[in-house]
Amino acid sequence: MEIIETVQEMRQRSEALRLDGQTIAFVPTMGFLHEGHLELMRAGKKHAGKLIISVFVNPTQFGPGEDLDQYPRDTEGDLEKAHNVGVDIVFMPSAAEMYPEESETRVRVENLPRHLCGLSRPGHFDGVATVVAKLFNITKPHVAVFGQKDYQQLAVISRMVMDLNMDIQILGVPTVREPDGLAMSSRNSYLRPEERRSALSLRKSIDLAGALFRGGEKKAKAIKDEIQSLVLSHPFTEIDYIALCDPVTLDDVEVLGHENLLALAVRVGKTRLIDNCLLREGRD
Ligand code: PAJ
Repeated sequence: MEIIETVQEMRQRSEALRLDGQTIAFVPTMGFLHEGHLELMRAGKKHAGKLIISVFVNPTQFGPGEDLDQYPRDTEGDLEKAHNVGVDIVFMPSAAEMYPEESETRVRVENLPRHLCGLSRPGHFDGVATVVAKLFNITKPHVAVFGQKDYQQLAVISRMVMDLNMDIQILGVPTVREPDGLAMSSRNSYLRPEERRSALSLRKSIDLAGALFRGGEKKAKAIKDEIQSLVLSHPFTEIDYIALCDPVTLDDVEVLGHENLLALAVRVGKTRLIDNCLLREGRD
């Protein structure tokens, strides 16, 4: 497994792979890798001959007062996991390498960030779209893999790729969960044991919404009210949002249709957790 730290070397390496007729899959990450990240990598390997991942805690997607400085890091563990899953190249630039001077250009998807996490994290998706566009230009992938856990991020990136005619196939991979249902996240490491139990309220909300929907409840407010009571019955929880929306536009719906997205963000202690699921007619 190769480790590359500079933009120039990464670009040259990817160009050489392409000239050699190789196909490239790319999985961007912020490190502290867990089984969710590894599942993306396995999917990437199935779709291309060479697998590149990036490990880069991108400062421009963190707002003031967010957890940039505390964000967990474990370079040695990450490299071992990446090696075991069969990654070919790890791109691990420094912040100075990615942002050498004040840059003037930003990639902004206009409407999708005006919903859900974009409301409580202003500028977050500009930071994500910009760094992912940069990483795409540097690693030159044919296929890039993202998790459905960050549903809005996947939607923003898919939209960016479509709007800017980037010649990259975007693959979404279902959320990987702990045995008790908590969606895996690098931020789960912040949870104290008593908070960890309250974190299960997100998964329980998804199950509850599914049961209500299958039972014929179509009023968004009724479902959201039930979820709110469930979440708040757990200690240390504070609701950022509970949304039922159109899975393509992310616009709120009042009456549920054939296919709907339930998305929620809950603070458990100081840790902000997100989760989501699709509620579809005729499916589980
Ligand atoms: P990070 O939070 O490290 O996540 C990297 C990728 O792993 C994202 O596509 C995310 O959706 C996916 N992922 C995280 N937890 C998952 C889970 N439990 N199941 C399935 N996939 C999961 O998302 C980012 O980093 C950054 O915003 C990034 C795209 C790298 C840009 O900086």
